Amino acid sequence: MVTAETKMPAALRLESTFKKVGLLGGVYNNHVALEKACQMALSRGCETLFCLGDLGGFGPHPNKVFPILHKYRVQCIQGNYEESLIKRLADCGCGYTHPKDNYYAALSYDYTNSRLSDENRALLATFPQQLQFKLGSLVVHLCHGSPRRVNEFLWETTTADAFVSREVEKLEADILCCTHSGLHWKREVSPGKWIVNVGVLGRPANDGHTNVWYTELAPGGAQPSIEFVPVEYDWKKLVAEMQDEKLPAEFMETISSGWWTTCLEILPGKERMRGRF
Ligand SMILES: [Fe+2]
Repeated sequence: MVTAETKMPAALRLESTFKKVGLLGGVYNNHVALEKACQMALSRGCETLFCLGDLGGFGPHPNKVFPILHKYRVQCIQGNYEESLIKRLADCGCGYTHPKDNYYAALSYDYTNSRLSDENRALLATFPQQLQFKLGSLVVHLCHGSPRRVNEFLWETTTADAFVSREVEKLEADILCCTHSGLHWKREVSPGKWIVNVGVLGRPANDGHTNVWYTELAPGGAQPSIEFVPVEYDWKKLVAEMQDEKLPAEFMETISSGWWTTCLEILPGKERMRGRF
């Protein structure tokens, strides 16, 4: 458990050392998958759970994730969604550039922004922007997009090893973890230094499967244990709620088919080729 903490610039450093943790990426209001992932991670031996931001967007009923985060004592950091909601900005600050992506991003954001309770909005402001902790002898640094920008997309095929190596050196970390892009991946960028995109719980990984993903980290032996865990959940329950809330049919199609139908213009060519659309 967290016993003490000290402030870093824009980041919180926990003084606790963990043996195994669960890392939850963008939730996007998918409270059904969030509950399932928390149950799974704890039953699989994770001592504590972290969420890397973007609680809202895409799915239904933005207030439903908060009791679950409280129940499982999930420590959250801010994503671009939280930053925008706290400041009551006009858009999610997702970092999309194509009008098609921005159209659907605006629908998601306006839905969440108009329904989030004042109490829960205030809670978002208590989350640190980034967070660091020890995993055995390793230092793990959590951010949302990248350490330098909350809405930077770190894709597997376009993220340079040299960039990550510089960032982890500056942060005095061994493993840099992020989310935001929606696709999980990992790579050793220099000896003993890793980047892990932990994926997201909010929507499938654009692979034709309905499951979503979270990540478990442990110190491991010669190299850290980084496991991507598929979460099978009651997606039909989520879709029924989305229908009741009159969310776009395209969002429901993504949840029920496993293929992204919106916000995919931002994908680099190689990632785009792996999807259906
Ligand atoms: Fe994000």
